[in-house]
Amino acid sequence: MTVWTPLRLRDVTLPNRVWLSPMCQYSAGADGTPTDWHLAHYGARAAGGLGMVMVECTAVAPDMRTTARDLGLWSEQQVAGHRRLVQVIETAGSVPALQLGVAGRKSSHGVPWDNAGTRSAVAPEDGGWQPLAPSAVPFAGLAVPREMTSADGTRVLEDLDRASRNAHRAGYRLLELHGANGYLFHQFLSPLANRRTDEWGGDLQARLRFPLEMVRALRSGWPQDKPLVVRLPAEDLLAGGLTTEDMTLVAKQLGANGADMVDLSSGGLVPEAGRLSEPLHNARYGPLFRTAGVFVAASGAVCETTRLGEAVPGLVDAVLVGRALLRDPYWALRDRGSEFWPRQYHRAF
Ligand SMILES: Cc1cc2nc3c(=O)[nH]c(=O)nc-3n(C[C@H](O)[C@H](O)[C@H](O)COP(=O)(O)O)c2cc1C
Repeated sequence: MTVWTPLRLRDVTLPNRVWLSPMCQYSAGADGTPTDWHLAHYGARAAGGLGMVMVECTAVAPDMRTTARDLGLWSEQQVAGHRRLVQVIETAGSVPALQLGVAGRKSSHGVPWDNAGTRSAVAPEDGGWQPLAPSAVPFAGLAVPREMTSADGTRVLEDLDRASRNAHRAGYRLLELHGANGYLFHQFLSPLANRRTDEWGGDLQARLRFPLEMVRALRSGWPQDKPLVVRLPAEDLLAGGLTTEDMTLVAKQLGANGADMVDLSSGGLVPEAGRLSEPLHNARYGPLFRTAGVFVAASGAVCETTRLGEAVPGLVDAVLVGRALLRDPYWALRDRGSEFWPRQYHRAF
């Protein structure tokens, strides 16, 4: 087996195991719909020989966006925009996938190229909104979130159910929940962000209760023949936070509740968390997470196709590539024969 070997998840066959990692473009229209930028960006990458193109973190509700320029999937207009995006990705030869996000306390901040940037809150009077989270503990310079009530929880589960139905209607073939990098799922899971004393807080099993409901809500709206992935931290990379032991247990329970694969992406819950940078850093956790009985993918400094071919199959079932594919949409094709390039480009060789 190599990274170019197809992978079957439920009834979906991914033609290879090198996938586009979800990357926010902060370029949605004012109503959260995909724009021409998204068509150009994802179309170019879909023509780059990737087994799957995962569209960036897309919010399930207006107050669960990170910024006012995030994509959304709660309205019919957004469904129509995503359908167009799906068609472009399929036409260019890749499998269309979507990451759904529920930002929680990492919500209502600036876009990276604004003066304020992603670590500064945008106040309601400036077009922002009040973030919700398991506990009233802020992330860095962002607003203090309001602690979620059980009614808020019910609403978030309904948002997830609707978004997964909309993702299916738009034509996506694989769905990922963003459960890492300090988003709501991760906030509930980690003792560093969840200080609750009710049934949603306490030991790991209690902190996992709402995240598991989130996965079940997604599954209820997502067809049984299509795969569901959860992006997870392999650990919090900070003393007192989630450990690899905690997270393998979580992965096992996700598998029992309808998830087919975990996609490892560590850190990001708090600014002080450690940062990994060596090649294939999240993929190195792969063998451990495979013991949880789920498929395992990982992102993080997957930078050389030759190394990828040698190292990846022993570690994980698939890799997601981020920054290298921003720099070069044809990165995955560079080490492959001309027959793998789009036939429209064959006269280039
Ligand atoms: C511009 C940019 C936007 C990103 N947006 C997201 C996102 O929407 N969802 C997510 O899970 N990760 C996001 N990430 C993280 C990437 O998906 C990826 O996990 C990370 O960049 C590490 O992989 P790499 O070393 O191949 O870049 C983003 C990264 C970048 C550079």
